[in-house]
Amino acid sequence: MSITRNYIEFLFGTKLERITWDSQQTLVPTTTVLQYLRGLSNFKGTKEGCAEGDCGACTVVLAVIGKNGKLEYKAVNSCLVFLPQIHGMQLLTIEHLSDKNSVLHPVQKAMVEMDASQCGFCTPGFVMSLFALYKSCSQPTDETILDTFAGNLCRCTGYQSIIKAARHALDEITPDSFKLNEKATIQLLQTIEKGNACFATANQAYYVPETLASALSVKNTFPKIQLISGATDIALKVTKKKETLPAILDLSGIEALKTVHETHQGYDIGSGVSLQTIKIELSTEYPALGKVLSVFGSKQIRQVATLGGNVGSASPIGDLIPLLMAYRAVVIVKSLAQERSIPIFEFIKGYHQIDLSEDELIVSIHIPKPNPNRIIDSEKISKRTDLDISTVSAAMEIELTSDKIITSIHLYFGGMAAVAARAIKTCEFLTGKKWEAATLEAAGSYLEKDFAPISDARAKAEGRMALAKNLLIKFWQNNSE
Ligand SMILES: Cc1cc2nc3c(=O)[nH]c(=O)nc-3n(C[C@H](O)[C@H](O)[C@H](O)COP(=O)(O)OP(=O)(O)OC[C@H]3O[C@@H](n4cnc5c(N)ncnc54)[C@H](O)[C@@H]3O)c2cc1C
Ligand code: FES
Ligand code: FES
Repeated sequence: MSITRNYIEFLFGTKLERITWDSQQTLVPTTTVLQYLRGLSNFKGTKEGCAEGDCGACTVVLAVIGKNGKLEYKAVNSCLVFLPQIHGMQLLTIEHLSDKNSVLHPVQKAMVEMDASQCGFCTPGFVMSLFALYKSCSQPTDETILDTFAGNLCRCTGYQSIIKAARHALDEITPDSFKLNEKATIQLLQTIEKGNACFATANQAYYVPETLASALSVKNTFPKIQLISGATDIALKVTKKKETLPAILDLSGIEALKTVHETHQGYDIGSGVSLQTIKIELSTEYPALGKVLSVFGSKQIRQVATLGGNVGSASPIGDLIPLLMAYRAVVIVKSLAQERSIPIFEFIKGYHQIDLSEDELIVSIHIPKPNPNRIIDSEKISKRTDLDISTVSAAMEIELTSDKIITSIHLYFGGMAAVAARAIKTCEFLTGKKWEAATLEAAGSYLEKDFAPISDARAKAEGRMALAKNLLIKFWQNNSE
């Protein structure tokens, strides 16, 4: 790949900032935005709590030029975003919200007026999440407010006053200083050059291709290179495990991987499409997908995490994999030499193992349009509803006759084995039986033939089995009308 830049540029508030990886540079490319901010003398408002996406204290807002040519504002966890990922964007922190005359932004004013802060450690994160909502939502409901705050934890204020502040701020959305400066901001963002980039230090080479062809050529040259799309999984290797990743191929700059195409047969979703975009654009067509995504991580995580990353991680508790199996999704992978289409249940080969050669990348996932004669449903059980990975999850695809006889059933479980897998014996038992509570209760014993789950910090083996059995009943309850 031909390299055209060794720097990143972003708007820091209204100031164009450039970081160049030359012999003077001491920051490694995998420096997180949070580490960068905490290293600056006047930007300590952004806090570090967990450094793993779980508390929201580090929330900042990234503004990008959207499809309609206007700015789109996204709250993200700065502890999980590497500096190169913000190239071409505007980075806004709590310090940028009040205007030149130190007049508070309406969301800050509302937090003050509603007594929505005590110790204040979590407050900048809440304010930034609320600011992103203020900038992106014309008619916020309580549901939107709660969804927005699911990724922000507060130990002392109590959420009621924070929610009241949100309602108060969003009651009347007026053009703020960001709206008044929007044109100038867009013009500045447009001056930032794109192009293939590589940032190299003594211990690390970080590639950011602009096109899929360039990415494939890097992968072909460096087969062992660490891929990232959103990096919500991989960033933890750096922030928590303190690993140095020697070579990284960052796919987040490739627009061609961020498209959603509708065809007669279904949707082709680029591997780089964020889970929040999928939630917004595809929940009506695929309600079970919308249901899973509404309890997937937090809004900050979903804005950055991608479908390709969830499938690529092949986690036994990856929330989307059982459901993609129920939808009979197909994974499309590419190398310089060829393209392959692989059904998802063949693509997931084992614990964190996928059918991907060293020169290939996942480029898209095809989800067929749901067959109207079949019901598809999904459930996730975790220790708390929001911002928690699942203990057990399940997805079901079922076809019934008019008198409720099961003609076909596919059940897939996550968290019950080293990989998300089909409950084959349970499905064999259920086929031809009546869709009623007693049948589903009887089917529970067949799950014991299908799975031998492990005990770990999340649940004991017998707890997992009990949860899986209960999910069979839950599926019946959800779809018994
Ligand atoms: C706080 C927090 C909450 C979370 N909550 C959930 C949750 O509720 N449910 C859940 O399932 N997960 C959850 N996750 C895990 C993670 O966010 C998801 O798995 C996410 O979808 C990963 O996407 P990403 O783009 O960030 O992946 P990345 O971190 O970029 O990559 C993940 C893996 O996929 C591979 N990969 C990425 N793109 C490609 C590609 N194009 N081709 C081939 N391989 C590729 C990478 O090599 C890597 O091994 C959570 C993570 C955090 C930090
Ligand atoms: S520091 Fe807790 S989410 Fe980033
Ligand atoms: S005000 Fe103290 S943690 Fe929220």
